[in-house]
Amino acid sequence: MSKVTLITLNAYKNTGEKFAVLTAYDATFANVISQSGVEVILVGDSLGMVLQGSDSTLAVSMQDMIYHTECVVAGNNGALIMADLPFMSYATPEQTMVNSAALMRAGANMVKLEGGAWLAQSIKMLDERGIPSCVHLGLTPQAVNKFGGYKVQGRDDASSERLYQDALTLEQAGASIILLECVPSTVGKRITKALNIPVIGIGAGPDTDAQVLVLQDMLNIPAGKKAKFVKNYIADAKDIPTAISTYAEEVKNGSFPAAEHCFK
Ligand code: KIV
Repeated sequence: MSKVTLITLNAYKNTGEKFAVLTAYDATFANVISQSGVEVILVGDSLGMVLQGSDSTLAVSMQDMIYHTECVVAGNNGALIMADLPFMSYATPEQTMVNSAALMRAGANMVKLEGGAWLAQSIKMLDERGIPSCVHLGLTPQAVNKFGGYKVQGRDDASSERLYQDALTLEQAGASIILLECVPSTVGKRITKALNIPVIGIGAGPDTDAQVLVLQDMLNIPAGKKAKFVKNYIADAKDIPTAISTYAEEVKNGSFPAAEHCFK
């Protein structure tokens, strides 16, 4: 695949073409994914559950993220690589700059942070310093203890309005991408329509500009309970590369996610 950049993703936003995102934590899978039509690889801190066996992402360290980003970079063949800043590595703008720089030095093309409008100053500083960012809104797994579990967010008017305003504020501050997790499809649609930057969804309905899944979830080896928004792509595939390319195709032709994968 020719190298995917933010220019590619912004062009998709403008033409209405959808793109696919998948997590990876190692070189072998990064190589398969990047040759199967998936445009973006997320080195997610979900590795805390998937690789390390934790019940949350909170124990993941900067060293873990640097190591796995380097592994993914080594196997990648043209996908854009987004790397997660782990829990408490971006509590202040200064920490955000130092830790984002470390992920970029490891080979990431952009960083992802979880939060809301409170991140605006850090996002602006990253943008001014040449580091593109994706802000993860909705169900932000690093805040699982605040939420009291992995629960759908933005279900009432006040919280969906807060998510909408946060997304506008963060785009204004310089975020390059917004990622929405576990929100009603109506919320995903409203935010996607309002923003000029791409919106990636996971359990955010069919109208976002892109979809993301955790690799092991779509291969039917989830680290925990299977989530509603996950589709098992290995069930009808002859092998893993076929499962991944079917996922990419279904995201692009809009057949994934189906109603059964979405929240009302
Ligand atoms: O860490 C991760 O894999 C993620 C996805 C669930 C979006 O943030």
